[in-house]
Amino acid sequence: MRTKVGIIGGGPAGLLLARLLHRAGVDCVVLESRTRAYVEQRQRAGMLEQGTVDALREAGAADRLTAEGLVHQGIELRFDRARHRIDFPSLTGGRTVTIYAQTEIVEDLVALQLAEGPPLLFEAEAVTVEGPEGDAPVVRFLHEGGERTLTCEWVVGCDGSHGISRGAFPAGACRTYAHDYPYSWLGVLADVAPSCDELIYARGEHGFALHSMRSRRVSRLYLQVPNGTDPADWPDERVWDELAARFAIDADWTLRRGPITAKSVTPMRSHVHEPMRHGRLLLAGDAAHIVPPTGAKGLNLAVSDVRVLGRALAAWHRNGDTQLLDRYSEICLARVWQATRFSHEMTKLLHAQPNGDAFEHRLQLSRLRRIAASRHAAAELAAHYTGLPLTL
Ligand code: FAD
Ligand code: DHB
Repeated sequence: MRTKVGIIGGGPAGLLLARLLHRAGVDCVVLESRTRAYVEQRQRAGMLEQGTVDALREAGAADRLTAEGLVHQGIELRFDRARHRIDFPSLTGGRTVTIYAQTEIVEDLVALQLAEGPPLLFEAEAVTVEGPEGDAPVVRFLHEGGERTLTCEWVVGCDGSHGISRGAFPAGACRTYAHDYPYSWLGVLADVAPSCDELIYARGEHGFALHSMRSRRVSRLYLQVPNGTDPADWPDERVWDELAARFAIDADWTLRRGPITAKSVTPMRSHVHEPMRHGRLLLAGDAAHIVPPTGAKGLNLAVSDVRVLGRALAAWHRNGDTQLLDRYSEICLARVWQATRFSHEMTKLLHAQPNGDAFEHRLQLSRLRRIAASRHAAAELAAHYTGLPLTL
């Protein structure tokens, strides 16, 4: 099989890139190792920056997002047993965010791609990328019981943090910067109306909790837990009791409880792979960088990478212009490092140290109080949370 752009991975990055290339008239093929049902059900992100919503609109993939997405004008920080609202429009010159699940984005993009093209192969697992230094890199992949090849002009690795694309960079051609955090998140999905209109980021006495949502009827909640936690040790009652304790305030507010339909543990880590290009192999999304989820940046970064890449590959296709491709890594990494720092700061600000360090806790509270009291401090948080411009 031959194509111009071989895309490894059918997550949000790979699917949106395919859609952008298709609309720019550039041939491509997407290889996805899992089944359609698996990729459409994998519970992950939910908070979209304005730029991410705009990108999905420009790609003609936002009909349902426009109808069903929940536009939020702010978030609540909860600490000192009180609520403190950060109002985005007044702090950022009118910006908002939208709550719309990653599962829905993937479902929308898969449906469009299967209806209109380009080819999307499920249960097609890439095993190697060969010859990225030359003009015709080849992806070897397993599909329908045999090994096949996809010969490309460019290969884009959108295969997430456990993919194979990064491994095709020769040693010495890349560097990985990594940081592991000493805690994880227990995430639950519950069939109950959210207990809030906007997301709540809480620094409870015993650690972090986040109240998010998937719709007006489904809540999504997260709890800081120790690394190595087994979800089986968290029966539903225990989850609700701990969430209620971390969200508790000295005012009239109750956490609505309901049936929990999914439960999983995610470790918190940060990871940046530099550069994001080697010859004719490019990386995008989680394949190149992971951030801890506290800043809600992972999916948004994946989308901003492919917006830059879509433009760069379209320019190359139109007239052979590689200027943007040559600057791809530099343009994306500027934004990636800003998001990495913001995600790190949000994580450090809101989580309890496992050793219960009282000095750290005092510093966190003093920073949180400053954000609540100072328009300047709140504006900095709001600017990052709602999303920095595509090119910095
Ligand atoms: P992925 O979604 O990982 O997709 C990669 C795809 O490649 C997968 O479908 C995989 O099956 C496929 N693949 C892997 N290997 C191969 C192979 N060898 N061959 C073929 N296919 C392969 N981000 C936000 O912006 N906002 C949030 O609110 C947010 N919350 C989060 C909450 C949690 C609990 C978690 C875990 C993450 C959250 N994120 C959030 C991060 C976000 O989900 C990811 O950044 C996003 O999924 C990245 O998309 P991607 O397409 O780069 O990678
Ligand atoms: C969600 C996840 C996050 O990590 C976050 O910061 C905000 C929202 C979510 O899954 O809805």
